Amino acid sequence: MPQSTNVSHPCGSTETTKLIHTPLRPFGRLVEALGGGARIDDIPVETLRRWTEESRVLVLRGFQLLAKQEFADYSRQWGEVLKWDAGEVIDLVVEENPRNYLFGSGDVPFHWDGAFAEADPRYFFFQCLDATPGVGGETVFCDTSRVYQDADDEERARWSRVSMTYSTDKVVHYGGEVTQGLVTQHPATGAPVLRFAEPLAPEAYKNPVSVKVHGVAESEEEGFLGTLAERVHSPRYCYHHDWRAGDILLADNFSLIHGRNAFTGPTRRHLQRVEVV
Ligand SMILES: [Fe+2]
Repeated sequence: MPQSTNVSHPCGSTETTKLIHTPLRPFGRLVEALGGGARIDDIPVETLRRWTEESRVLVLRGFQLLAKQEFADYSRQWGEVLKWDAGEVIDLVVEENPRNYLFGSGDVPFHWDGAFAEADPRYFFFQCLDATPGVGGETVFCDTSRVYQDADDEERARWSRVSMTYSTDKVVHYGGEVTQGLVTQHPATGAPVLRFAEPLAPEAYKNPVSVKVHGVAESEEEGFLGTLAERVHSPRYCYHHDWRAGDILLADNFSLIHGRNAFTGPTRRHLQRVEVV
């Protein structure tokens, strides 16, 4: 059931904005501002942080988008903003001849952001400048804390012994080699979460990612990866976000892994992304 709250505009204005909260399925929350003119900084950062941690994915609709520098400056109120060679705000647009699969129109397998960065982002934010809804390209979020909760003791024990080494060439803003335990703890809640990025086969993806599994017999490696991939793609753990221009989306990078469905229609879309440590 949708619920509503009100927020007062800052600067002593007596105006208030009505916010409608609607649960997304199977997790996540949509907060819509009615009446126009609302800004993300009308809501205190601590309130948004709480909503994001409770919901994992928080979609704000009906809020003004921020200019590129303003987006980075706003995000700094939440923590350190990751700086890439291309700057703090990464423009995600579909390119004709991309050097990397993120900028193509195909699917993007599950991963977490910042695997190859020096710092581990706590949150990532998107704003959507342009999109055509209903043509595929949805961003898909898997709540790995729920995947872990639903696993039985034997599976949890097996997962806790597994780590994976990921490697990829640096073609765009990331690259390198990293080894990561499959189970880790959420830095705020201490809840167990999974860190898993799906392997990207060189024949299917530009700028592929290879995965070596440790803690599993070599003969079982492929079966283990296949079963894990099937589990994290289960519809009961995955929220698919179909973008509309004007959406702002805040996500918990520790509880979630995310990817993208392939586009099935026009690929005109422009997202901007910031990572907050
Ligand atoms: Fe990502």
